[in-house]
Amino acid sequence: MSDTQSIMSSMVETREFPPPPDFVKDAHIKSIDEYEQLHRQSIEDPEGFWGERAKNHHWFKPHDTVLEWNAPNAKWFVGGKTNVAYNCLDLQIERGRGDHPAILWEGEPGEVVTFTYSELRDRVCQTANALKKLGVGKGDVVTIYMPMVPELAIAMLACARIGAPHSIIFGGFSASAIADRAKDAESKIILTADGGWRRGKVVPLKQNVEDAISQYGGIAKVVVLKRCENDIPWNDGRDVWWHDVVDAESTECEAEQCDSEDLLFILYTSGTTGKPKGIMHTTGGYMVYTALTAKHIFDLKPDDVYWCTADIGWITGHSYITYGPLQNGVTTLMYEGAPNQPDWGRFWEIVQKHKVTKFYTAPTAIRAFMRQGDDIPAKYDLSTLKLLGSVGEPINPEAWMWYHEHIGGERCPIVDTWWQTETGGILIAPIPGAITLKPGSATRPFFGIDAAVVDEAGVEQPANAGGFLVIRKPWPSMLRGVYGDMNRFQEQYWSQLPGIYFTSDACRRDDDGNFWLMGRVDDVINISGHRIGTAEVESAIVSHPTVAEAAVVGIPHEIKGQALAAFVALKSSSTPSDDLKKELLAHVAKEIGAIARPDQLRFTDALPKTRSGKIMRRLLKELASTGEVKGDTTTLEDFSVIASLSADDD
Ligand code: WT7
Repeated sequence: MSDTQSIMSSMVETREFPPPPDFVKDAHIKSIDEYEQLHRQSIEDPEGFWGERAKNHHWFKPHDTVLEWNAPNAKWFVGGKTNVAYNCLDLQIERGRGDHPAILWEGEPGEVVTFTYSELRDRVCQTANALKKLGVGKGDVVTIYMPMVPELAIAMLACARIGAPHSIIFGGFSASAIADRAKDAESKIILTADGGWRRGKVVPLKQNVEDAISQYGGIAKVVVLKRCENDIPWNDGRDVWWHDVVDAESTECEAEQCDSEDLLFILYTSGTTGKPKGIMHTTGGYMVYTALTAKHIFDLKPDDVYWCTADIGWITGHSYITYGPLQNGVTTLMYEGAPNQPDWGRFWEIVQKHKVTKFYTAPTAIRAFMRQGDDIPAKYDLSTLKLLGSVGEPINPEAWMWYHEHIGGERCPIVDTWWQTETGGILIAPIPGAITLKPGSATRPFFGIDAAVVDEAGVEQPANAGGFLVIRKPWPSMLRGVYGDMNRFQEQYWSQLPGIYFTSDACRRDDDGNFWLMGRVDDVINISGHRIGTAEVESAIVSHPTVAEAAVVGIPHEIKGQALAAFVALKSSSTPSDDLKKELLAHVAKEIGAIARPDQLRFTDALPKTRSGKIMRRLLKELASTGEVKGDTTTLEDFSVIASLSADDD
């Protein structure tokens, strides 16, 4: 959906859905007054509020100070010592959850495996011991490139247990993307699998790691999980099988006493330059914030079977498959494969089979299901569902209504959760027992979140006027930096308005104080809820020997929300052809991953530029979306460029 479309649709949306009485009855927070009172308290006295919440966690040593804030550097629970894996496992076992299922996993071919909290703890300890024997120490970054199998969650918890930050790379990324990230993080070890199942095919993960290592020589050890039994390249001195190093290990591994501000993980995300940013999240604040948001936004209860369909390779999976739900002692469901394998009923079959109670997915998936027809979900018993969630992009009211009716049986609140890789946890979302829903709005800020809509000068905008979404106070799970590039951290997030976090999202607030997100204001495109920087795709295209220059813009897409359109000027030695077009598209998939492959690619003699040489993306966007340019072209250097581009019908 383009920005203007989402502004339009959100402006006309007037339907309201108050919390259903049946839901409110058992909810943790039962009224708007209760929400507003807690929110006010959390803003007026953040240290009192968060200091109190931290007491629900296990600390080897409690904090001395709740917050030290020297913008843009925040330290939370200063002086506290804790371990996030201990909080996810041992603390739950101490609370009597040892025999309760922690992870309920279904593979794409259909196998089901459950780990109770005790079994998970044992497995995490064994894996942690194995990592130590392989030479991983506190502070060493462990790169993880795995399919959606329980061992992925086990690997991250094992890292957390020994204080080794993890850097998880989504399994859809390519070899070059792995190499760039492992190099940036100076990581010496990669955990992977022979392959993973996706749409009935094996994703060759180990082969990709092999190709990555040929580009970055710093990897000394590769631990390989046997999953698909596919043939893989093998290097005797460097590669070890997961079962060979883990299975014989002791199930006891003392949890490292981490400082509250020790790095818990790095997660790379796209920005406005060609180089992904290693977003840094630390221990104590992230732990407390993900636990509390998971509890209240999904209204988690001991018997919930909670399913977040994201991949753990994205922040959604980090915070709301692993760390948030496990700290609440619930069962978190993991599914390995595609939503349409063997057919479009797979998700609903899983909901029915495992009696899922809370279900969290992305608008792009909802739109894809909508397109397949209402009769598919109608075939399954979805009556165990109590709450639905949405994340990744603005949810268009039409998709919201479909989700509400056909999945939620008109009884489940929908929590539309706004947040970012950088924010670590959900910042704006309804508290389901308290807040009246409006389709398309993420509604109100969570506790401790001082969100505002401002203009360029930082002046707060009146109700219904659009502006930039900013966060005016630090919160516990905020990013602590960009790995190896603190200047970029300062510049990207804190330089527009000093001391205030700039989200790069456009937004308006309605008369009732609800936030309506309207998309990014920078050159970051949201494809199926995943972030791709146009600069990254441009540099991938330009790295092809035939290309002189490229510009990439976002265009509306019915299912994916947005897609990419590329304009490519070739070197004079090359000639445009369909084969070359295919080759360039394949080149992008190889350099970054299939999600970054443009939907359109047009050859052009030159790119439209301003007199100062800036590419006029606005014109390209208009051209790619509508086929013509009507907008202002007064700053354009050469009119003939646009004329020739429009003539070249794709
Ligand atoms: C960007 C962050 C955080 C999880 C997934 C994406 C957009 C995310 C919503 C929502 C409107 C949303 C924003 C944001 N976004 N959730 N509920 N409504 N927009 O994480 O890859 O870091 O992307 O996704 O534009 O800035 P991410």
